[in-house]
Amino acid sequence: MSERTKPHVTVLSLGRMGAAIAAAFLDSGHPTTVWNRTAAKAGALVARGAVRAATVTEAVTAGPLVIAPLLDHDAVRQTLASATPVLHGRTLVNLANSTPDQARELAAWASGHGADYLDGAMLALPDTVATPDGFFLYSGSRRAFTTHRRALEVMAPAHYFGTDPGAAEVHDLALLGTGYAALTGFLHSAALLAPAGTTPETFAPLAARWLHGMAEFLPELAREAGSATYSDGVSTVDLNRAGVDSLIGLSRAAGVATDVHEPLKALLDRRSADGHGGDSFSSVYELLRGAHPGPWPRPEA
Ligand SMILES: NC(=O)c1ccc[n+]([C@@H]2O[C@H](COP(=O)([O-])OP(=O)(O)OC[C@H]3O[C@@H](n4cnc5c(N)ncnc54)[C@H](OP(=O)(O)O)[C@@H]3O)[C@@H](O)[C@H]2O)c1
Repeated sequence: MSERTKPHVTVLSLGRMGAAIAAAFLDSGHPTTVWNRTAAKAGALVARGAVRAATVTEAVTAGPLVIAPLLDHDAVRQTLASATPVLHGRTLVNLANSTPDQARELAAWASGHGADYLDGAMLALPDTVATPDGFFLYSGSRRAFTTHRRALEVMAPAHYFGTDPGAAEVHDLALLGTGYAALTGFLHSAALLAPAGTTPETFAPLAARWLHGMAEFLPELAREAGSATYSDGVSTVDLNRAGVDSLIGLSRAAGVATDVHEPLKALLDRRSADGHGGDSFSSVYELLRGAHPGPWPRPEA
């Protein structure tokens, strides 16, 4: 596709993420209209070829694809409130950090005004927009995703989780949860090592190497949890119970908080007390999963 035929894109908001996104569209040759509440932030992008819209209505009217990396749900609602008459027939891509219910509410609102809605979650930093290190999750209108996928992938590789507008946010929170556990574990260990003279900075590369190996282990963990097959794992509940117990004992003796690992110890203790001490570590999944209506959608190719 030649640059001249690339579709027009509107970017509402030029905060850290919005500015990086608008720059990425300009760099890839998309005609780009920008709007920001604080208009002065558009200056550098206008110098690079963006068109500055004076109002939200002017920005939305400029083209079929409206991308909104605003601060939050309220900012999206407030910004679009003045442009409802011109939303009809356009696609709104909401990239603001939102809850799943906020995404669903906004999807219904957009639909009521004749717009297609895609919810997006940005697993990226401003510096990793339009690089292989970032990726975005989407859910909502399949037609919108299919029609605009190529433009969306200017920002980052795109993963689509189906028509429930809340699904991208659910997956975003799940990824945050995975990261929080790992990062809190690192901070605890850094606190444990500090009195011995190992600084957090010294420990970080070692921890990163270990986490990389842990990431390689995820498919195996997933296979066991997904099939509820816990009998052939090499790392058992009881083995890890002893390890976590030692970690808690060492922390306590050093005066370091044990809050990070006590909940894991409780789970392992319960599994063992229920007669599953010889099962794989992954079997704590049986205690974590609750009743849910059905499997969450997988990303589509
Ligand atoms: N920064 C990151 O590393 C990162 C990474 C992934 C996801 N995110 C998510 O991306 C979204 C944007 O983050 P950001 O870092 O770009 O935020 P930011 O730099 O603080 O920018 C916020 C943007 O929202 C605008 N805004 C705030 N309230 C508004 C309102 N009531 N009406 C109109 N505009 C309003 C601001 O306009 P003004 O310029 O006028 O203040 C600004 O353009 C957030 O949901 C964030 O959670 C951020």
